[in-house]
Amino acid sequence: MTTLSTIPVPLPELTAPSVWPASAVTARGGDVSVGGVPLAELAERYGTPVYVLDEAEVRARAAAWRRALPDADVVYAAKAFLCRAMVDWMEQEGVGLDVCSAGELELAASRGFPADRIVLHGNAKSPRDLRTALRLGVGRIVIDSECEIARLAAHVPGPEAQQVMVRVLPGIAAGGHHKISTGAEGQKFGLSIAGGDAEDAVARILGQPRLELVGLHMHLGSQIASAEPYARGVRRVVAFMARIRDRYGVTLPELDAGGGFAVAQLPGEPAPSPAAYGRRINDALVRACAEFDLPLPRLTVEPGRSIVATAGVALYRVLAVKRTGGRVFAAVDGGMSDNPRPALYGARYTVRMVGRPSAAPMRATTVVGRHCEAGDVLAESVELPEDLRPGDVLAVPASGAYQVSMASGYNLTGRPPVVAVAGGRSRLLVRRETFEDHRGRDVGL
Ligand code: LLP
Repeated sequence: MTTLSTIPVPLPELTAPSVWPASAVTARGGDVSVGGVPLAELAERYGTPVYVLDEAEVRARAAAWRRALPDADVVYAAKAFLCRAMVDWMEQEGVGLDVCSAGELELAASRGFPADRIVLHGNAKSPRDLRTALRLGVGRIVIDSECEIARLAAHVPGPEAQQVMVRVLPGIAAGGHHKISTGAEGQKFGLSIAGGDAEDAVARILGQPRLELVGLHMHLGSQIASAEPYARGVRRVVAFMARIRDRYGVTLPELDAGGGFAVAQLPGEPAPSPAAYGRRINDALVRACAEFDLPLPRLTVEPGRSIVATAGVALYRVLAVKRTGGRVFAAVDGGMSDNPRPALYGARYTVRMVGRPSAAPMRATTVVGRHCEAGDVLAESVELPEDLRPGDVLAVPASGAYQVSMASGYNLTGRPPVVAVAGGRSRLLVRRETFEDHRGRDVGL
């Protein structure tokens, strides 16, 4: 596609850590271009709402994780956002996949992604999830409850054993919001080390010839903006590995430290680099292994958001501007159906008008969606020009993770398309959901 010539000025808010992809620059006519393509042009061509994904940013973030931990396995947490192009990019960048359903697994398999580099998670794996995993030969299945041990073992066709890990609960509270905090006692994930459940599960697995226990897994939560909880978690898991060695004579060769690495949602928010997380985790692992006299296990990390969040920009068109109750609202053509994160976790975003210059003063404006709920707020009190009007395009950076993947069919507005940009070109990755899609599923009278 043709692109406007751009005068590449980095965005003012492009300070590290940025909420924009590295390729984001100001473009002619008050626009911003990403991957060399002006955003307003993308809004025009693909319609709104639309999600733009900067391919180079995704690849660079994946590569940064590989560089940060060259001796570890990096697996991308597909729940953050998955489509066939993402599967290919991860494969090309030497990154594995963490999936948690037969659907994610089938999508990866449809691109010929090597199954031995896939890890299957889930606190409630369905028979279909397990059957699909065994049929495709996934590398690791992470056990999350005792009752799935016998069920899984019964389905392993043999003669080779299925390699499994145990998701342990190290008892560490971390994460940006209680709904995405998974390392402490009293929530649904994992098997408690302190309570003895993890050890019971280990003993049971060791008694199942069809299962081979290769290691332990922890996932502390999401949006964890410090490496310290990982360091503490790794030490607790290594201490537990030492106990397993002492009681059962088994030295486990792998440790999966999970995902949860934070990104800046607002400019300047703390977000350690993959290198910083990697250094701290590695250091903690080396120290703990020395302390407990264990050989270094092979490490795995599972970044999701950290790879894809800042590569994504959501574009909306303003449908209405309203002043009421002393506040200014800009209502756009998307909302909680494509981004439930503000409503679910109180997530905050920055918003920028793109596509035309404005010299108007800025004022606090609340960007709301089009859905039939007062809680359908995308961004509370963000600075937008006073002359904002219907038809204007708003760009919301840091939108690449857990938005399209959590999009719903609310109000039958249709889930938005995803467009990749790279080298001044754009291409459609996922098309817009249409009314025909809804009608096709509705088979009753
Ligand atoms: N590994 C496991 C086992 C996980 O459950 C998750 C995320 C990850 C890795 C990747 O976490 P990440 O690096 O992306 O933080 N919907 C929420 C996030 C839920 C995360 C669920 N598990 C949100 O929008 O913030």
